[in-house]
Amino acid sequence: MTIARKFTLALLSCAVVAVTLYAVVAVRAELRRKESDILEYEASTAHALRPAIRDVWLHDGEPRALEVIQEAQQRLGNVDIRCVSLDPGAPAAKRPRVDSSRLGPIETGQDVVVIDRAYQGSGRIFTYVPVRVGTPASVAIEVSKSLAGHSGVRSAVVRSAALTAIAVATLSALVTTLLGLALIERPLSDLVTQARLVGEGDLSYRVASRRRDEISVVASEMNRMCDRLRDSRENERSQTEAKMQALAQLRHADRLATVGRLAAGLAHELGTPLNVVLARAKQVVAGTLPPDETRDKARIIVEQVERMTRLIRQLLDFARKRDLQSTDVDLRPLITRAVSLVDPIARKQSVSLQVSPDATPLRCCVDPEQMTQVVLNLVMNAVQASPSGEVVAVTLGRGRAVPPSEDGRSELACTRIEVRDHGSGIAPEALPRIFEPFFTTKGVGEGTGLGLSVAYGIVKDHGGWMEVASHPGEGSTFTVWLPDRGRA
Ligand SMILES: Nc1ncnc2c1ncn2[C@@H]1O[C@H](COP(=O)(O)OP(=O)(O)OP(=O)(O)O)[C@@H](O)[C@H]1O
Ligand SMILES: [Mg+2]
Repeated sequence: MTIARKFTLALLSCAVVAVTLYAVVAVRAELRRKESDILEYEASTAHALRPAIRDVWLHDGEPRALEVIQEAQQRLGNVDIRCVSLDPGAPAAKRPRVDSSRLGPIETGQDVVVIDRAYQGSGRIFTYVPVRVGTPASVAIEVSKSLAGHSGVRSAVVRSAALTAIAVATLSALVTTLLGLALIERPLSDLVTQARLVGEGDLSYRVASRRRDEISVVASEMNRMCDRLRDSRENERSQTEAKMQALAQLRHADRLATVGRLAAGLAHELGTPLNVVLARAKQVVAGTLPPDETRDKARIIVEQVERMTRLIRQLLDFARKRDLQSTDVDLRPLITRAVSLVDPIARKQSVSLQVSPDATPLRCCVDPEQMTQVVLNLVMNAVQASPSGEVVAVTLGRGRAVPPSEDGRSELACTRIEVRDHGSGIAPEALPRIFEPFFTTKGVGEGTGLGLSVAYGIVKDHGGWMEVASHPGEGSTFTVWLPDRGRA
């Protein structure tokens, strides 16, 4: 039931109770007034008749006095007038209609008033005034009037009270319904709409209110809350955008640093094919070779140039700045390609790189370029930490893992990328800091300290996390966990 209807009902009940109370009080007051009017009229009538009755009774006798009474009765038809005998031995027709025990004071010459509400069912008011026609007084004038008309008064008052109640109820129902609609229901339904939209994330709705009541206070508070929420959402959005931009810049800077390092390895890698190309080209230019051999040398030149072009394109591809774009890819070729980029540097340091397993496809939803950067950073670190002759092993697989405790998630099905080396390992005091941006133990110009923090950020953007196990002098193992999307 709406508040307006509850108000209407409460008001109606109050109106009905008030009108009923009023009716009861009004009926009582009206009856009391009528009774006192009758009493006054009866007393004045009896007192007006008394001297005449006494004189006539004393001079002309009882029959004449009774005639006078009868004449008065005929003139004043609205009351019943009798001359009654107070003598207990008098016949019943001449006796007072009220029980003689209630007429005691009349013996001492006083008036007696008796209101007998049970008399003949409708009730009657009797007034007795003694008349001294002998000693002691043995006669009284009895003036009486029936109370039958009172029930009419009662029902008239009740009827008018009922009509008033109906009128008040109808009017108050109309007024409270209209007021309830205008003052409560409509503004409240506006507030409800606003609250629902806020719950759905729409902060644009505003409640218009020109009044000055509690609901409009709530409405203006809700509007203010929406304004503040919208501002803070805008703020948050711009902060997130700025953060994303800074992250992208950082990742690109790290990528360029990696490209620089890879280019150094590449320069060394290009040396051999360039020498081959130069030697074969010189032979062709000399023109001393038979046509078949010339074609053979030219083919070797083409192969070597294609290899060099491929290497340079890979590097340039990686250097390009791109937005995060996740897609369902086979991780195996992606990782193999990334590892092959580090291969020139690894070979320079006589460190060999292994990727296993090398045949089974392993599909995963990632941004290929970003994941390449993660693998490059991990493998590069492993190569840099490894002494010559060692092996850096990259293992791919699937498994179930529990995310870090602060993550709050339970065990998840994941794709796992593990990079293991048998290098210097990480000192226990450095271990908690290695994912911090710009933390490096390498010399100036050798490391920026961005590699691991960038890799960590990328993995986190993919909904995953990284783990590290390292023992100084024994080597380190970095594990990347990438949860399956939609599978627990
Ligand atoms: N496989 C590893 N073995 C030993 N120490 C490592 C290994 N990987 C990382 N570290 C330590 O963690 C630090 C931070 O690594 P990170 O890749 O963030 O920066 P960096 O390698 O020093 O510099 P950058 O990668 O930016 O050139 C390194 O300086 C190194 O001390
Ligand atoms: Mg590094």
